[in-house]
Amino acid sequence: MNSRRTFIKNTAIVGAGLSVLPNFTYSFSIKKEKLKVGLIGVGLRGTNHLTNLLNRDDVVITAICDIDSNRIKIAEKLIHDQKYPKAKIFGKDEYDYRNLLAIPEIDAVIISTPWLWHTRMAVDAMKAGKYTGVEVSAANTIEECWDLVNTHEQTGSHLMILENVNYRRDILAVLNMVKQNVFGELIHFRCGYQHDLRGVLLNDGKSAYGKGVEFGKKGISEAAWRTQHSVLRNADVYPTHGLGPIAVMCDINRGNRFLSLTSHATKASGLHNYIVEHGGKDHPNAKIKFRMGDVITSTIETANGETVIVTHDTTLPRPYSLGFRVQGTQGLWEVDGNRIYIEGKSDAHKWDKADEWLQKYDHPLWKKYGEYAQGAGHGGMDFFVINAFIESAKENITPPLDAYDAATWSAITPLSEASIENNGEPQYFPDFTRGNWIKRKPYNWMKEAY
Ligand SMILES: NC(=O)c1ccc[n+]([C@@H]2O[C@H](COP(=O)([O-])OP(=O)(O)OC[C@H]3O[C@@H](n4cnc5c(N)ncnc54)[C@H](O)[C@@H]3O)[C@@H](O)[C@H]2O)c1
Repeated sequence: MNSRRTFIKNTAIVGAGLSVLPNFTYSFSIKKEKLKVGLIGVGLRGTNHLTNLLNRDDVVITAICDIDSNRIKIAEKLIHDQKYPKAKIFGKDEYDYRNLLAIPEIDAVIISTPWLWHTRMAVDAMKAGKYTGVEVSAANTIEECWDLVNTHEQTGSHLMILENVNYRRDILAVLNMVKQNVFGELIHFRCGYQHDLRGVLLNDGKSAYGKGVEFGKKGISEAAWRTQHSVLRNADVYPTHGLGPIAVMCDINRGNRFLSLTSHATKASGLHNYIVEHGGKDHPNAKIKFRMGDVITSTIETANGETVIVTHDTTLPRPYSLGFRVQGTQGLWEVDGNRIYIEGKSDAHKWDKADEWLQKYDHPLWKKYGEYAQGAGHGGMDFFVINAFIESAKENITPPLDAYDAATWSAITPLSEASIENNGEPQYFPDFTRGNWIKRKPYNWMKEAY
């Protein structure tokens, strides 16, 4: 699908002392026919990425790594069925990914492993000179957030957080409206991750959505690792699907920044009730005390005077919604209810159906690739996020969602945890750009390329 096959190989592993030079790259140009990609983690998400990559003619899957041999078999079959050459296989232990990273010809890697591996693997990948894509969230602690930024600055290797919701059709249409000032001056946002994950966090250990109430060693896929976060952490552990799109709309790290946050958590009843209902009150997991409140609400203040309310709501019965609201001095969009009101354009005090507005402001990317993207997963947005990653990697340029975004958005987790622990005490965002947010220019989101 792509005729441009230029890749500028980044060879920079530079020494200490350059940490104050964000986006430092030291590169020379080598034209490459295809981008050589390694995949670390081919569980459900990594396999999704693999499928999308196999549809492209500008990518070679050079190596895959997973500690689960069943997942490797599935990935190998996909590669074989598409008549691609065999990939090198890694995964004999948890650190075998480092042997994948040691392959010099690999240009870029995509990390789709459990959260606790993300920063460690991303740091190693950047140190190995790879153009690095990491699944969401990127980091679990403030220290890890800094590790991502520092390593990017010290090595010159780029990091992209693979936040697919930034590429959702309605999100990009609303971003288009924001850029054209339809909402006026931006004032307030709402967003979150509101998704009933009880059947994902708990399963039968045989299939990811299998009925059952097991997790940890007896669970499979995300139940094997994600649920333990609900046992141990009272925090918004998955902020980026909601926050990523909002951060781009209000130019976070590029003329604006998140200043502070306060968070509150409800009690935790959802997972316990689900275990009792589906496994019985005598099931051993019915004794587990989950720390993570069912609904976690954080309010963020920005340097430019906006507020953002972020919700994490994954353990109660509810239909899926990321709960977006984008509000300015001229009007607002609310995803729930599919409605828009623009003063002077809408009938006074009456909502318009959002559809007409969203069609009118449909993003050039979706107009161009929408039909092709539809089958790519999550309604098409997975195509666009991978496309942006591959195209940026081929040129070795700063990706649209970079190391500073990865750190800033992921910081919600430890900051919300600290605020909840301290009865809603405000927590302050580190300035991961070290003051450069004032002069950094927004990425050109309105271009047609990616
Ligand atoms: N952007 C999205 O829409 C989206 C959707 C689903 C998942 N995700 C994210 O993708 C990531 C993976 O989620 P998933 O649903 O695929 O989980 P999963 O459990 O299905 O897959 C994770 C895979 O990583 C492998 N793994 C674990 N440790 C490893 C190691 N040290 N070396 C190599 N492989 C290792 C596991 O064996 C497993 O196959 C998570 O960060 C999740 O939050 C994002």
